[in-house]
Amino acid sequence: MTIHIGAAPGDIAETVLLPGDPYRAKWAAETFLSDVRQVNAVRGMLGFTGTWNGHPVTIQGSGMGMPSLSIYVNELIRDYGAQTLIRIGSCGGMQDHVGLRDVVLAMTASTVTSPSSTIFREVNFAPGADWSLLRAAVAAAEAKGTRTHVGGIYSSDTFYDERPDLNEQMVRHGILAVEMEAAELYMLAARYGRRALAVLTVSDHLITGEALASEHRESSFGDMVEIALNAAFP
Ligand code: ADE
Repeated sequence: MTIHIGAAPGDIAETVLLPGDPYRAKWAAETFLSDVRQVNAVRGMLGFTGTWNGHPVTIQGSGMGMPSLSIYVNELIRDYGAQTLIRIGSCGGMQDHVGLRDVVLAMTASTVTSPSSTIFREVNFAPGADWSLLRAAVAAAEAKGTRTHVGGIYSSDTFYDERPDLNEQMVRHGILAVEMEAAELYMLAARYGRRALAVLTVSDHLITGEALASEHRESSFGDMVEIALNAAFP
């Protein structure tokens, strides 16, 4: 057990999927995994372990924002030995050609700041995805026929932005989408020599103002889970 994860040693698989929402973790585990058991409920941040095509997989909620994800990923890596960590979550589209329900595979994740900024100080470290996972996710998304974009995203500290000029600069520099967790995941994976990727679906759009209807959120989320599982076990 750790401070935030109540799982026993050995209860967490080497491959961990990380939705922000703990109820999404429950839905994904019950929908896609076999022999599922709940392994965490501390603070309601549900985690489940089961198997997918015979491979052990844990699906653990990470909460919203980099500070929350950082707690869970630190403990998953340092205390439970997680090797492959894939965020599955939503993002806001930032380019005209990135549409609602499209999948965005985050090759890099830019930030203003993150929980790791205290380490890097004046260095602008470039957090990036694991290449083998990224390549496998592209292949999995193509095989499913999902409209997919690969490129840079922006991991923001705020959902309700008071700095519209920042978003403008991100758009201007070709950033595909905004979310709130991937950069810290990539920095922790780099620090501990693990594999990480963020698979995202576009739930809203900063330029058009569109947002996904709730009935489409579940099917888009399911597509992401399948792409993530196929990327982890190509
Ligand atoms: N996640 C989904 N949509 C988002 C947005 N517009 N900003 C930040 N995170 C998001």
